[in-house]
Amino acid sequence: MTKSVKHFLTLMDLTPNQLNKLVERAIELKAAWKKGAIYTPLLHRSLAMIFDKSSTRTRVSFEAGITQLGGHAIFLSPNDTQLGRGEPIPDAARVISSMTDIVMIRTFEQTAVETFAQYSSVPVINALTDDYHPCQLLADIMTFVEQRGSMTGATVTWVGDGNNMCHSWMNAARLLNFKLNIACPEGYEPNPQLLADCGTHAEIISDVKLASQGSDLIVTDVWASMGQEEEQKLRELAFADYQVNSALMKEANNDALFMHCLPAHRGEEVSTAVLEGQQSVVWQEAENRLHAQKSLMLTLLDL
Ligand code: CP
Ligand code: NVA
Repeated sequence: MTKSVKHFLTLMDLTPNQLNKLVERAIELKAAWKKGAIYTPLLHRSLAMIFDKSSTRTRVSFEAGITQLGGHAIFLSPNDTQLGRGEPIPDAARVISSMTDIVMIRTFEQTAVETFAQYSSVPVINALTDDYHPCQLLADIMTFVEQRGSMTGATVTWVGDGNNMCHSWMNAARLLNFKLNIACPEGYEPNPQLLADCGTHAEIISDVKLASQGSDLIVTDVWASMGQEEEQKLRELAFADYQVNSALMKEANNDALFMHCLPAHRGEEVSTAVLEGQQSVVWQEAENRLHAQKSLMLTLLDL
């Protein structure tokens, strides 16, 4: 077991200062890349990408990101690896980390990434679990900073399921000192222990209109996450009053932004008008996955 390796399993693995620096560097890396600068500090380094769930943005951004930094990505799906046939995580972790420089994992249980990290000799990145999606928050924070300068003191409203994205927004609120209003239907609240840990930084306000008033940013996500497909119909009923549409955006501040990690279901959690509207920064947010994760990989490797 290697204790000194830096991992990124939740946002709380970073201090506020490290998070701010990571985002600043992501903005610099973005500017340099757009100017055509070649910067290859990860030459000949490898990133193992373990995906137990589907992905478009995460796969493309990590794969393109490590390539831009001079390295190479190895895509591993359970259909092709021994992990998919039941090889124990501690065994796979020791082997994969002995041959690569960083490991990125998208899976179901948070304990799986924790166990992998415990046995890994190289940094492990949580690329989404049932409980957290910290990489998405790096891009979301970066996008807000690009648009508005700083998250500190802002009011953010989460609309919808108390899911992995909501949990990561809760961590962001306490790290960066902003207020998160959580508008979710009864029975779909976030983890109560995490809510308690957030103190005054996060509050459940189930009246979605009330929760949106005075907000600088409205964020939502799908009603049924990966692994919850069978609950889709039930959730459509439970979340029917929790759509982010033009009427709801009017409750927020005039210059409020709209974010969604994507993929989006138009007509469910968000209307087409909002997703494609002036206040939406979803395409910038998606692109920033690339720049934010390049910065993350360099941070974890102390480069
Ligand atoms: N937002 C996000 O993680 O997208 P993918 O599922 O496409 O990776
Ligand atoms: N909450 C969603 C996020 C997808 C990026 C899910 O877990 O499926």
